[in-house]
Amino acid sequence: MLLTSLGLTLLLANSVAGQSIEGLGVSGGRGPRGGIGDDAHPVRRPQALITDAKIPIAPNTTRQLAPGPAPRLVLHNRTLSTCDNRRAVLIDSSTGGAQQEMLGFGHAWTGSTVSVLDSLDDDVFVQVMRDLFGQEGNNMNFMRHTIGSSDLDGNQYSYDDNGPSFNQGEPDLELANFDLGPHGRAMAKMIARMGDVKGDVFLFGSPWSYPGWMKHNNLFIAPNLNEGSYSNIMNNSFNTKYIPQAIQYFTKYVDAFRDHGVTVNGLTLMNEPLNAQGGYPCMFLDAADEAAILAQGLGEEMHNRGVKVMAYDHNTDQPMYPLRVAQGAPEYTDMAAWHCYQGSVANYSVIQDFHYAYPDKLQFMTECSNYLPEAGSDNWSVAQNFIPPVRYGASGATMWVMATDPDFGPHSPYGGCAGCLGSIIVNSSTTYTKTNDYFMVGQFSRFIRRGAVNYKVLEGVEGTTYDPNWFDLIAVKNPDMGWAVVFMNNLGSDQDVVLSFTAGGFEWEGTIPNATVVTWLLPSDQIVGQSGVLPQASGTAVSGTGTGEGRICSTTSSVASSSSAPPTSMLEPVPHTTHTIAADGRSSGVA
Ligand SMILES: *[C@@H]1O[C@H](CO)[C@@H](O)[C@H](O)[C@H]1NC(C)=O
Ligand SMILES: *[C@@H]1O[C@H](CO)[C@@H](O)[C@H](O)[C@H]1NC(C)=O
Ligand SMILES: *[C@@H]1O[C@H](CO)[C@@H](O)[C@H](O)[C@H]1NC(C)=O
Ligand SMILES: *[C@@H]1O[C@H](CO)[C@@H](O)[C@H](O)[C@H]1NC(C)=O
Ligand SMILES: *[C@@H]1O[C@H](CO)[C@@H](O)[C@H](O)[C@H]1NC(C)=O
Ligand SMILES: *[C@@H]1O[C@H](CO)[C@@H](O)[C@H](O)[C@H]1NC(C)=O
Ligand SMILES: *[C@@H]1O[C@H](CO)[C@@H](O)[C@H](O)[C@H]1NC(C)=O
Repeated sequence: MLLTSLGLTLLLANSVAGQSIEGLGVSGGRGPRGGIGDDAHPVRRPQALITDAKIPIAPNTTRQLAPGPAPRLVLHNRTLSTCDNRRAVLIDSSTGGAQQEMLGFGHAWTGSTVSVLDSLDDDVFVQVMRDLFGQEGNNMNFMRHTIGSSDLDGNQYSYDDNGPSFNQGEPDLELANFDLGPHGRAMAKMIARMGDVKGDVFLFGSPWSYPGWMKHNNLFIAPNLNEGSYSNIMNNSFNTKYIPQAIQYFTKYVDAFRDHGVTVNGLTLMNEPLNAQGGYPCMFLDAADEAAILAQGLGEEMHNRGVKVMAYDHNTDQPMYPLRVAQGAPEYTDMAAWHCYQGSVANYSVIQDFHYAYPDKLQFMTECSNYLPEAGSDNWSVAQNFIPPVRYGASGATMWVMATDPDFGPHSPYGGCAGCLGSIIVNSSTTYTKTNDYFMVGQFSRFIRRGAVNYKVLEGVEGTTYDPNWFDLIAVKNPDMGWAVVFMNNLGSDQDVVLSFTAGGFEWEGTIPNATVVTWLLPSDQIVGQSGVLPQASGTAVSGTGTGEGRICSTTSSVASSSSAPPTSMLEPVPHTTHTIAADGRSSGVA
């Protein structure tokens, strides 16, 4: 009977009901250059990895991707009864519960990132790239980069300023002076080195502004944002007479990056198209104009180059924008991109709404920054902006920004995020520090493989992002048919959890400590079944009718494999999961 149900599980292997990641120009991230949970690196024993929400005051004083007590196998289905207060977590593991395929998680390449990483000695640079992209590091798979400068860049430029500076050039109708320039070339060269560490990362570009001469008022520079220049849409907006030039600009950018060995897989036409602050590196782009640029040739040029188009790239409070782009250029709108800055908490249910309208289009959370988080306080910024988007249908998420200097820079002299905390702080040519967000992103990017399928969570979530305290989770089935379950526990106390699946198979139990993000790695039912360690029941079945029927009341729950029991020969440790931090900020081991 056990074998029959396992055979069935294999037959139903990762069938996707929702959006698929086929045809994105990336291989699937499997094999030697994939990582934990792909079919070449199956998870062989249950594990828990923990990062505390508290930002440590001193190094090594909190858990950061630390191994915790492993989840334990339970014999009986739905072992909860009225006689215990464990939290029932139920995943719809049926075909109908299968949602979107996952692409990955990451952090953004910015001018600041490139300049601070360029200042490292080469052996230290190689190590930080392994920490970010290696299988023993965060193994990031979904990467954004800025096209031209952003607010996190010490210099202001586009790839065709055609004048004394950004925002001050003459029209260059043939794009004769298109040039990545020193900063663009430095970024392309550094991004190309991701390939030294791992295979094909999904990379997408986003401009903060088009060249100044493509805007209505390229002379308008307001160093002081308070002097009446705020939200000057009429001035700081795209002039549609330059649509042919905008199309050329993007095609030349994709080709120039390709010439540096970088494959661009995705494009947003404008970062934050509704942001028009004068003087700031930004530009207003109406949804109708975004669709027009696509329909009048950019969509075709991008598709010819294998580049997917991502609509919108701004906050969840204007959900009509990507719908209007998709209506205006349906065949060229491949994806929708969302940011987190809607008040204090983003409302990610818009992802589900967009999905109902366009069920085949992928969606992503493409930008969120953690602003001046304080040592000693709890911070949920990453989990709060990764878990709900995925639960509502996003195939990945990326934080802003990847690396800065200790003063959160360099950033734009005309304003710009003066407190955006990255994942890496470069202290000197030989020293860098991983922030708590590095480990928080790792709770996702290390364990959720490309091609994993997100499944519906039916029970277990309590509260919402709008509540001061809440408990949330996502459950994905990796290509190895094992599960990665990421929990966040902001309820104020430890939560004892029993995890079960509607389509049967093994159940797991364990504790999600107070104020943590925890990832459980669960081997596939097939591996557990082959392990020769059959689950043993302890506790007593409750007989009778009603809610307690057939359930177990137990304090000493059944255990097949736990942190205290040595693993059996079949339940081998997974390589490359744990992480130690050396005093100089380097991790041990080699990718
Ligand atoms: C555009 O900016 C200029 C200043 O350079 C200002 O005089 C003008 O009123 C602005 N136009 C609009 C429509 O806001
Ligand atoms: C979130 O957006 C949904 C629509 O997707 C809406 O029904 C709901 O009221 C919004 N919630 C809040 C708290 O704004
Ligand atoms: C993270 O820390 C910052 C700075 O203390 C705070 O403003 C923000 O609300 C925190 N975010 C979350 C989600 O905890
Ligand atoms: C690097 O700079 C950050 C921010 O100032 C600081 O918290 C950290 O302790 C520094 N690390 C080292 C090794 O000096
Ligand atoms: C849980 O964590 C929160 C935030 O760190 C803390 O205030 C609270 O006292 C903790 N609860 C328990 C029961 O330890
Ligand atoms: C759990 O129950 C389902 C049906 O309710 C059954 O198909 C499955 O085999 C059971 N799993 C175990 C491990 O007993
Ligand atoms: C942090 O922990 C690692 C691994 O246990 C150790 O090698 C390192 O020296 C510690 N760093 C500090 C600053 O205590």
